[in-house]
Amino acid sequence: MAFKQRVFSGVQPTGNLHLGNYLGAVVKFVALQDLYDCIYCVVDMHAITVWQDPTELPRATREVTAAFLACGIDPKKHIVFNQSQVTGHAELAWVFNCVARLGWLNRMTQFKEKAGKDRENASVGLYAYPSLMAADILLYRATHVPVGEDQKQHLELTRDVAQKFNNDYAASITGHGFGEAFFPLPEPLIQGPATRVMSLRDGTKKMSKSDASDYSRINLTDDADTIAQKIRKAKTDPHPLPADEKELAARPEADNLVGIYAALAGRTRADVLGEFGGAQFSAFKAALVDLSVAKLGPIGAEMKKLVQDPAYIDSVLADGAERARVIADETMNAVKDIVGFIRH
Ligand code: TYM
Repeated sequence: MAFKQRVFSGVQPTGNLHLGNYLGAVVKFVALQDLYDCIYCVVDMHAITVWQDPTELPRATREVTAAFLACGIDPKKHIVFNQSQVTGHAELAWVFNCVARLGWLNRMTQFKEKAGKDRENASVGLYAYPSLMAADILLYRATHVPVGEDQKQHLELTRDVAQKFNNDYAASITGHGFGEAFFPLPEPLIQGPATRVMSLRDGTKKMSKSDASDYSRINLTDDADTIAQKIRKAKTDPHPLPADEKELAARPEADNLVGIYAALAGRTRADVLGEFGGAQFSAFKAALVDLSVAKLGPIGAEMKKLVQDPAYIDSVLADGAERARVIADETMNAVKDIVGFIRH
């Protein structure tokens, strides 16, 4: 069966959005708007899998929404909303908890990293997180999911859940006239030079919201001086930039900065090395500062403006949720029929 092509992706409202979120995900969200119907979700239910201060969460949710808008997502042509406003996410996640196998979740590296040594004390939600993520995507029967490299395993699990649901309920799916398969197997879109942006302090660690050092990341709300300072202080090695990609790959910090430059400029690593191969880091960093400030400065300024008007942000989320609910209800009604739940 051919599924309607649709994009879904989500971002957690935890901490500051950074350059990794921007280049790995949001830039792609923006580009995909011309090709597909898109649904972009601020996943507040995922956020509370680890403790979130309830007085802080609304601000963080509005800030991610502001980032979406400031980066160029059109909430009228597409859908922007926060997850908890559409109850179908939780309902479908429960069904998927009963489809996914313990063995599948036990393999999730992100849970192992986040739970750390104190696994017994991690929330059940953190463990079941990938099941909710599968529900987010499949509630809209989305076919394409733009994400950074770190979400690849969760996307594979989403495909496994879709496949198992389709198989387990095959007779009921055809019996209710939904064709051969009810859920599509969504394609991860993980492309370009910055699918895994690394920390500016350590080229072997992912840039992350939770790193204790603010110098490890560039936040979308950083001003020009802060961006410049962070790039100037970014860890490098003592050699000039290499001319070829193979040599670059063996130097994590250099590789990361060249990848960031390439992604911001819409160029390839090879192309950037063609220009800067043999140059000292001081010269390259100066160019990277100019490019970063030119690209990120206006976004940060627009975000700051938008968050001054929480009523407007909330109206965008309410309107998006209303339109998301129409699609979600259609899926949930079908799922309930397929599973055998009585409904009126
Ligand atoms: P989250 O909120 O951690 O990150 C949002 C997006 O940013 C990407 N990302 C990165 N990309 C490149 N380099 C980095 N250093 C970097 N850090 C983060 C992430 O891959 C992600 O695309 N589980 C998801 C949120 C989610 C979701 C979904 C995504 C919930 N439901 C359904 C897609 C579809 C998460 O925690 O992303």
